Amino acid sequence: MKLALSLTLSALLAYATAQQGEWQQCGGIGWTGATSCVSGTVCTKQNDYYSQCLPGTAVTASSSSSSRTSSISSVPPSQPTSPVNAKTNFWFSFGDSYTQTGFVDTDTLPAVGNPLGNPPFPGYTAVGGTNWIDEITVKYNNSLVLTYNYAYGGATIDASLVAPYEPTVLSLTDQVNDFLSSPVVSKPATAPWTSANAMFSFWIGINDIGNSYYQSGSRDAFSDTLLNAYFALVDKLRCRREEFPVHKRAAN
Ligand SMILES: *[C@@H]1O[C@H](CO)[C@@H](O)[C@H](O)[C@H]1NC(C)=O
Repeated sequence: MKLALSLTLSALLAYATAQQGEWQQCGGIGWTGATSCVSGTVCTKQNDYYSQCLPGTAVTASSSSSSRTSSISSVPPSQPTSPVNAKTNFWFSFGDSYTQTGFVDTDTLPAVGNPLGNPPFPGYTAVGGTNWIDEITVKYNNSLVLTYNYAYGGATIDASLVAPYEPTVLSLTDQVNDFLSSPVVSKPATAPWTSANAMFSFWIGINDIGNSYYQSGSRDAFSDTLLNAYFALVDKLRCRREEFPVHKRAAN
């Protein structure tokens, strides 16, 4: 019911706007809002269900066998337009559907002009539009923020403690392990994050409670078990970070 309400609200908001702003949705199957974009952006198809206004200008395909005019963004989201600079900040995020945007770290990574990497802003959210991490990454940011969002819908802290709604869901444990085995952990030139310019965030718990509250045994004790597992993951990230060269230097 909450989801339906959010969808209705975003549809109403979109309907009231004649032109969609930068990063907003402008088309796709089921989309009933505005399909034109503000100047300086172009409505760009991401898939059958989602088109969005991306920075760029419309060009007409001249050598196409089709007579249709195609809009191509002059700033393809997968290609950085300028190097990551000193003011760039990095965000590594873990969580559930409240945060998910559908990111995987084996596809296009966050870059200038495409701060969420894949899928581009706002990604596949549970609210049919922008969620909190979208808003903070592109709207309420005081600097360039490149967001690596490992959150996965339906996630529990640890699938062996509380089973997710289906076995393919990546738990918080899976997400943290994915990050720790990703090349981005070693601070490559393409993602020069440091402890000073990176933030790690977690939004988790509702699925742990929702999928287990009815079980027998002490729920209080089980909450402690869950929280211990959660803090162990936070610690695992923190300890790994201390192994990184910048921390070694600081310790010496
Ligand atoms: C906020 O993020 C957007 C999208 O990456 C970027 O274009 C903009 O420059 C950022 N704002 C600041 C103040 O850096």
